[in-house]
Amino acid sequence: MLLKDKVAIVTGAKQGIGLGIAMALAKEGCNVVVSDLEQSGCESAVIEIEKLGVKALAVSCDVSQKDQVDHLVSETISKFGKLDILVNNAGIFPFKPFMDLSESDWDKVIDVNLKSVFLCSQASAKVMPDGGKIVNISSIASLVGFEGLTHYCASKGGVNGLTRTLALELASRKINVNAVAPGAIESPGATGAMTDEMKQGTIGAIPLKRFGVPEDIAQSVIFLASNNADYITGQVIVVDGGWTLR
Ligand SMILES: NC(=O)c1ccc[n+]([C@@H]2O[C@H](COP(=O)([O-])OP(=O)(O)OC[C@H]3O[C@@H](n4cnc5c(N)ncnc54)[C@H](O)[C@@H]3O)[C@@H](O)[C@H]2O)c1
Repeated sequence: MLLKDKVAIVTGAKQGIGLGIAMALAKEGCNVVVSDLEQSGCESAVIEIEKLGVKALAVSCDVSQKDQVDHLVSETISKFGKLDILVNNAGIFPFKPFMDLSESDWDKVIDVNLKSVFLCSQASAKVMPDGGKIVNISSIASLVGFEGLTHYCASKGGVNGLTRTLALELASRKINVNAVAPGAIESPGATGAMTDEMKQGTIGAIPLKRFGVPEDIAQSVIFLASNNADYITGQVIVVDGGWTLR
């Protein structure tokens, strides 16, 4: 087990990629704080995670709100006495053409996808021991453009920049900060409302000819959260079935 007796927070963990990451961490022996907007969703995930033989804690938290983020970290310390790993996964990706975007559309996406990484990372780094790990879930939309997602692409580009600079600032404490950039991954938010035709169109753009699944992202997160990645920091690891190769 790579992460036995470690303690991790995963944001946006009631479903999709976040739930996949939380389950994979638990399979490696890691105790997990499951955080999402609503307590009931977190509690359902906790029941599943505890079946894997680790301890889990449900804490509702809107990651764009500083007081709620501070509460998330303090609850983690109250229950487990430490925090080793933070996975900044919560995110939203509402499609809207650039010319129709309102200021509040822009602010919402930047707050949930980018400001959250600042808030959660700062609150967590205050209590993390040397050797802690921060893994940010970015997107291939940080590297290439997607029509209808200007605000999202900007937010994820910001996550990559934050990742590199925070890695420099926390290097003296041996805290590694990296990002994973997923391609098209099956999740309620991403593929839940897609028609078969839309799915086939997307698969056509992926050299490995399938959607990714949360486990594909979770395995790269496990690696980056483990001591096997102690000498890797400030990197963005693309996990996209080859989408961005052409
Ligand atoms: N699925 C993909 O194809 C894909 C591709 C690239 C990047 N990503 C990124 O992966 C992450 C997870 O995406 P997913 O596909 O699992 O999406 P999803 O919509 O299925 O799950 C996202 C979770 O985040 C939670 N969330 C939303 N706003 C929140 C907030 N303010 N505070 C706390 N939690 C909040 C939601 O309740 C939900 O449980 C996101 O950061 C997304 O940008 C996903």
